[in-house]
Amino acid sequence: MTNRFLAATGARYPIIQAPMGWIARSQLAHAVCAAGGLGIIETSSGETEACKAEILKMQALTDAPFGVNLPIRFLKDDAMLHFICGSGVKFVTTSAGSPAKFVGPLKQAGITVYHAVPTVDTAAKCVAAGIDGLIVEGSEGGGFKNPEEVSTLVLLQAIRRITDIPLIAAGGICDGKGMAAAFALGAEGVQMGTRFVSCAESPVHHNYKQAIIDAKETGTLVLNQKSTPCIRALKTQRTAAIHEAGLMPADTFARLQELYFGGDMEAAVGLAGQTAGLIDGIKTAKEIIDETVAEFHAIAARMGAMATAGDFG
Ligand SMILES: Cc1cc2nc3c(=O)[nH]c(=O)nc-3n(C[C@H](O)[C@H](O)[C@H](O)COP(=O)(O)O)c2cc1C
Repeated sequence: MTNRFLAATGARYPIIQAPMGWIARSQLAHAVCAAGGLGIIETSSGETEACKAEILKMQALTDAPFGVNLPIRFLKDDAMLHFICGSGVKFVTTSAGSPAKFVGPLKQAGITVYHAVPTVDTAAKCVAAGIDGLIVEGSEGGGFKNPEEVSTLVLLQAIRRITDIPLIAAGGICDGKGMAAAFALGAEGVQMGTRFVSCAESPVHHNYKQAIIDAKETGTLVLNQKSTPCIRALKTQRTAAIHEAGLMPADTFARLQELYFGGDMEAAVGLAGQTAGLIDGIKTAKEIIDETVAEFHAIAARMGAMATAGDFG
């Protein structure tokens, strides 16, 4: 199978590992790339020099394509943009803000640019700005969210109605079933966050991975819906209290690293999506990608056979 996303990026499979502050670094991204997916290096941590070093490390570790995420609102200045333009990186996802100013310089540097969107209106603005593709972010997903929740199921179809450019589905996908559903709705790729946080090569503490595995489908909460940022995170004593209060205290992320890497699940908020209710074990990136691709193909074959037979069996 090939499609526009694979042709533009050179990845073997249309499976992107989501950008995630501090987590999406070379240890995880390299494992995903080695398995044929497209690893992404984050820059949302704001640790500019560390992220530059991670990009150079990826280039030393692998010839496989990988990407970088630029979270527009969280960039202190244009330093990372300029670095990426001269780095040889060929695929960038932008998020959190308007990509209008970034599309020109990135494309001039020969880089394919996809932007993450939570609504049809933002998708239309990105298309007008000349974006190459869109990451369609439904409300099921983990991390920063649009307070007006729209599921991936609806958002993909609504955005497909207004544009023909490549769409990547993000939010609620952790296996080949979710991937097949996304492709049926017009996606040419999927992006997984929660599934890769909890994979063997993810650098986070075992307690965070185990909390994802232990969570039910109701095990996450949307927090801070009346302010910004609105986020989806694992249900804990801390997040239940924030949910009850309605607003998130300013210091909520102050001890994020103690949660991510120290395993104290009450130190901050553990970002995760509703797929936490589907994920039931720690797997390697290769197992995740191989199983997702095999399951996707089995479902596509079953659907094709149904169409050939003209029945609903
Ligand atoms: C722990 C975590 C951190 C995230 N951090 C970022 C980020 O820094 N930048 C970004 O664009 N998206 C971020 N996201 C959202 C992901 O990019 C992705 O779209 C989302 O996880 C997809 O939904 P899923 O969690 O159901 O797979 C984060 C998600 C998680 C779970």
